[in-house]
Amino acid sequence: MSRLIVQKSGPLRGRVQVPGDKSIGHRAILFGSLARGRCHVRGLSHGEDNLSTVACMRAMGVNVELAGDRAIIDGVGLRGLSMPSGVLDCGNSGTTMRLLAGLLSAQRFGTRLVGDASLTRRPMGRVVGPLRARGAHIGGSDKDGRPAPTLEKCYPPLSVAPLVEGEQLTGIEYDMPVASAQVKTCLILSGLYASGPTALREPVLSRDHTERMLISLGVPLRTAGSMVYLDPEGLDGAKWDRGWDPFEWEVPGDVSSAAFPIAAALLVEGSEITIEGVGTNPTRTGLLDMLRLIGAPVEQETRDEAAGGEPRADLFVKHVRPRGGLAAGELVVRMIDEVPALCAIAAVSRGTIEIRDAEELRVKESDRIATMAGVLRAFGVSCEELADGMRIEGGAKLRGATVTSQGDHRIAMSAAVLGLAAEGTTVVEDADCIATSFPTFVPLLKGLGADVRLEES
Ligand code: S3P
Repeated sequence: MSRLIVQKSGPLRGRVQVPGDKSIGHRAILFGSLARGRCHVRGLSHGEDNLSTVACMRAMGVNVELAGDRAIIDGVGLRGLSMPSGVLDCGNSGTTMRLLAGLLSAQRFGTRLVGDASLTRRPMGRVVGPLRARGAHIGGSDKDGRPAPTLEKCYPPLSVAPLVEGEQLTGIEYDMPVASAQVKTCLILSGLYASGPTALREPVLSRDHTERMLISLGVPLRTAGSMVYLDPEGLDGAKWDRGWDPFEWEVPGDVSSAAFPIAAALLVEGSEITIEGVGTNPTRTGLLDMLRLIGAPVEQETRDEAAGGEPRADLFVKHVRPRGGLAAGELVVRMIDEVPALCAIAAVSRGTIEIRDAEELRVKESDRIATMAGVLRAFGVSCEELADGMRIEGGAKLRGATVTSQGDHRIAMSAAVLGLAAEGTTVVEDADCIATSFPTFVPLLKGLGADVRLEES
């Protein structure tokens, strides 16, 4: 296991690039695997989460060649996957497991999906319930690994039994209780194979990469606000042949990773940095909007659109101390993975930053409300934990601390950027997890002038 050693650092300066967007990467690998032929993907992250998806698709007979940030994927078509010889290991990746649950529910072979200790604590009833409602033979486990007695107590591993000859998933109309792109995509993937339409409504629109990408591939899918409608028979009288042609895609930089150098620049006085080629899909830019609201705008210079209808921009961040403010409602859905970084920024604000409607954070890679509150307090920041968020008082003098990430990459990186502005030495234990999403985090920060190093513990 490794730990990060962080010292208070001088101004951060420079131009950097963050790894490819993790969410788009998962989808590029999956949709590439299901295409009718050879796909080329550029800008793919080396993060372990994306590699988990690659490993699962390889285990089902898809040839995926990785070279640097490029992938060549020999798609096998919607009906071309083969039965894996063992369990499918999703590692730490909830997206891999929930998306595959949908895809595998429609196959004529059985599978078992497993994950690491953190993933094994995450709720799966949210996908198992609606998948069963459309005829899937899928079940999860309770906390002791026995078959889950109820959907409320349903966790990994997931077992998927095959559909037998003549069986097919049905259409579904589903009002999703929580906004979740993983659940939405799971149901869209299973819907590609269904006998009838998939009609979904989210309480708030979650990230819409799946919709953008599949529409660009000619899948008969339509969106209106937070509603999605997929008719596998085809839309507007045009029959769909249940498949798509090979594609070439470039994955934009991950705005969820960019959140950490952004936070670092706002924490360290005198900093001025540029992050190149970051995805700025509006369903992902809640943090940028929040920063504008609290007087710390990140300048965006729009670049071309990456393939699959994904906008991207260069981001320019200059140190300024933000005001206090409230993040709630749809803004939180659009920054759900960036809340830990916002918490770190809140520590140096000139007021109180309150985060509400963020109960989903309790079921991420760790309980991010509790873990982040613990981290902030260790640095001398006063904060109040709320059932659905947090209230953080800015302006305390930060003191270096020894904290553990609880195996959660975004907690480890939030603690590290806090350390850049804290007096003395900060130690972040259990830092290997950073590689799940941002394997270049330490060299990137060093390149900006930060005093940070990784050490074997
Ligand atoms: C993701 C969706 C979000 C997000 C996760 C990636 C995706 O999860 O937190 O990091 O790629 O679909 P939920 O669907 O649980 O909100």
